[in-house]
Amino acid sequence: MTTMPSHDSIRAVLWRGDRLRLLDQRRLPFVEDYIDCTTPAEVAQAIRDLVVRGAPAIGIAAAWGVVLAARRGSDALAEALPMLRAARPTAVNLMWALDRMQRAIAAGADALALEGEAQAIQDEDLAANRHMGELGAALLGDGVGVLTHCNTGSLATAGFGTALGVVRAGVSAGHITQVFAGETRPWLQGARLTMWELVRDGIPATLISDSAAAHLMASGKVQWVIVGADRIAANGDTANKIGTYQLAIVARHHGAKVMVVAPWSTVDLETPTGADIEIELRDPAELLSHAGQRTVVDGAVAWNPVFDVTPASLIDAIVTERGVVTSPATSGMRGLA
Ligand code: MRU
Repeated sequence: MTTMPSHDSIRAVLWRGDRLRLLDQRRLPFVEDYIDCTTPAEVAQAIRDLVVRGAPAIGIAAAWGVVLAARRGSDALAEALPMLRAARPTAVNLMWALDRMQRAIAAGADALALEGEAQAIQDEDLAANRHMGELGAALLGDGVGVLTHCNTGSLATAGFGTALGVVRAGVSAGHITQVFAGETRPWLQGARLTMWELVRDGIPATLISDSAAAHLMASGKVQWVIVGADRIAANGDTANKIGTYQLAIVARHHGAKVMVVAPWSTVDLETPTGADIEIELRDPAELLSHAGQRTVVDGAVAWNPVFDVTPASLIDAIVTERGVVTSPATSGMRGLA
């Protein structure tokens, strides 16, 4: 299956030989601006501030952060590793990439060899996404409508995307007739980022408010909910962007299927169930204001968990580059290890 080149044109994490260039996702869709990081502290800050976001992309950025540290010597490296690891807690790709870089360091890799390792992490992610696109698209059937959540595309990965990669591949193959994207409150990854990617790559899509999802699924226009993941536990429970869990409940109620698409770097066999996954709480200010403008009365408080856990029993298929696990609640993930 080939995906039209026009359906895959965006790259957000760019190594420039002595610096890491990141497309600033806080400013999209109206400003396409890049930030250059020359120190590991700048990379950690960019991850914390969501300049770069999406589980695979933050792992890749952290790997380049290790390269920047290694060029400054062993003290800088020792300081950088825990700082990068602490940047965000839920997406296990961050820890996975740092563990891989640490194994290379332990095996004696110098800065040049570490550069090769970071490049391999980035290249392998792109290849995994293209492969998952084919595997996921093959599950869809014909003439289907899909709903996706958050941003799981080229902005969130080395390129092509996970769930959005399946959308890209499914549209190219003619399986998907309609794409819906949820706006993804409060940070609006769906509205600001996914819609930007889809419009830019020529994939027709319709934005819905998060609250319209049940009404949409009741209409029968959605056969698959296709989402990414930040961490998949050994039993198949899946942490992803807040709101995924309620989409899975609604999908089950209306007979739509749920597909989780994630590279093996998102699978955490050390974490037995979703209950063991740390859920990131972000600044309530993200809920209390919009575009820097306060929208809620002074004195109000807010709770802002930015991920939730979808139980494996609500997931029909988990697609990784190693293969597809159907009904993960009964089999878990170990069969692909
Ligand atoms: O807070 P974010 O924007 O980093 O959250 C991103 C998500 O939840 C994505 O769905 C997930 O990382 C998969 S990206 C391929």
